[in-house]
Amino acid sequence: MKMDFDNRPIGVFDSGIGGLTVLNRLAPSLKNEQFIYIADTLNLPYGEKNKDELTTIIKKIFDYFKELNVKAVVMACNTSSAQVYDELKELYEFQIYPIIQITSKCITQNTGLKRLAVFATNATINSHAYSKAIKSFAPAMEVYEHSCPEWVPMVEKTLKDYDENDLILKYLKPALDFKPEAIILGCTHYPYLLNQLSCFADRSLFIDPAIPFADYISEHIVKSSNVSGNLKFLATSDCENFKNKAKIFFNIKEKVELLTL
Ligand code: DGL
Repeated sequence: MKMDFDNRPIGVFDSGIGGLTVLNRLAPSLKNEQFIYIADTLNLPYGEKNKDELTTIIKKIFDYFKELNVKAVVMACNTSSAQVYDELKELYEFQIYPIIQITSKCITQNTGLKRLAVFATNATINSHAYSKAIKSFAPAMEVYEHSCPEWVPMVEKTLKDYDENDLILKYLKPALDFKPEAIILGCTHYPYLLNQLSCFADRSLFIDPAIPFADYISEHIVKSSNVSGNLKFLATSDCENFKNKAKIFFNIKEKVELLTL
């Protein structure tokens, strides 16, 4: 039976501030929805964890969302979409939106792209989730994939003593040698580096998956009939630090609550 409305909340999560790039696009277009954002700061960075570790971690987040009776979970995290989506999608009844699979679908439809580069975390690149998903929609696509392990700690400000330009060019230069028509920023933390990246390559070259991903969700989700939505933020450690770091991108007015999973 098709439901016209569903007033239950929507869960969104990432290891830290990265997923806010998705929420930032999603919340304004779904003004009547209640969003619960989990920043799993205790387990950051996800990109350096193995599949078993990530499965255990993400299962706890999904179980918590289940307790909250969410209607959908937005995986605003490429690493978890790469490593655990296939396994977890069978275990939960709510709708799950994985960023890699949906982005790959959107950017291969009617765009005429033939050569793509992807930057992502170690765990995402090692899984080849992007190239597999892209080729499932566009088998002839040439895909260059590379991990940029320092970029998440650089955005989260946990990296010490580094030259930002060096760390950008280390990965950007070989990717540009591949002559891609577009470069996917396949970690939700990476769009925070767009200004720096644009110093060395045309900004229009970079795809921020948050845009097609959030737009797809806005179009497909069963909407709420509430008159006004709201946002709730939870972090698994260091709430104030998360709130402060988020400021560069997202002004969190609400109190960030500590979540113990
Ligand atoms: N922002 C996440 C992603 O899109 C995770 C980054 C990390 O914690 O390593 O992959």
